[in-house]
Amino acid sequence: MDYLPEDNSRYKQVDYWDDRYRTEETYDWLGSFCKFQHLLENHVNKEDCILVLGCGNSSMSGDMYGAGYQSITNVDYSSVCVRALRARHRECPGMTWHEMDLQQLLFPDASFDVILEKATLDAIMVEEKSPWNLSTRTAATVHQALTEVSRCLKPGGRFVSITFASPILRKRLYAHAEYSWSVKTYSYDGGFEYYVYVMTKGEALSSEDAALEKRQTEGAESTPDTVTLPEEKTADDFLSKIDL
Ligand SMILES: C[S@@+](CC[C@H](N)C(=O)[O-])C[C@H]1O[C@@H](n2cnc3c(N)ncnc32)[C@H](O)[C@@H]1O
Repeated sequence: MDYLPEDNSRYKQVDYWDDRYRTEETYDWLGSFCKFQHLLENHVNKEDCILVLGCGNSSMSGDMYGAGYQSITNVDYSSVCVRALRARHRECPGMTWHEMDLQQLLFPDASFDVILEKATLDAIMVEEKSPWNLSTRTAATVHQALTEVSRCLKPGGRFVSITFASPILRKRLYAHAEYSWSVKTYSYDGGFEYYVYVMTKGEALSSEDAALEKRQTEGAESTPDTVTLPEEKTADDFLSKIDL
């Protein structure tokens, strides 16, 4: 079955994901856990209380559970997805599944040691014409999501964001003092070069990131005219369909 939508805007709509998850068993955006496990192991402990945002039907949570991560709470706003994944993993105590919007996380402050997202924020930004200047609406959505993530992290907790977006684009969103975290960047080979950002709650921004934020606030950060993305790899891959 072809899951490629006619229009990129469909990736932002819950009914697109509901329809897709009615028939699609599993799909791993940006590669499976084995590709970035070595990076996660440095930042996520087996006994950590972990929240996965926009879990989809990815095998990541199941693979992490199999690797010994004992407490994994999964949320997605697709009820179809949540029902299917809950049924699939009913034999796994320690894994839970909840229908929830990442803009309004129904968890108390400081609930998690680690919050993980893979390609979920990418899906929210997929329709943007320019990653340098997000539309007001998308910028507000991303800001609300990051505010919620920061709120739900314990002191010293880590927000791990796995994405196709390179530091020149993504640090502009993550390197803000109001989230009270530092930002570190790693990458892995998942067919293309993909990125893992680790934000640690309670640590200050590096001087370089603080300077980036200052330049943005002052409107002095330059924005290139064009960015080249990798050639299209699969038909069902929104990463290569973004207009830049
Ligand atoms: C590109 S898929 C990524 C799925 C999975 N994380 C992976 O790596 O394969 C994006 C997922 O985010 C979910 N999603 C998008 N917007 C969301 C929101 N506002 N709240 C919760 N989930 C959302 C979609 O339902 C979809 O499952």
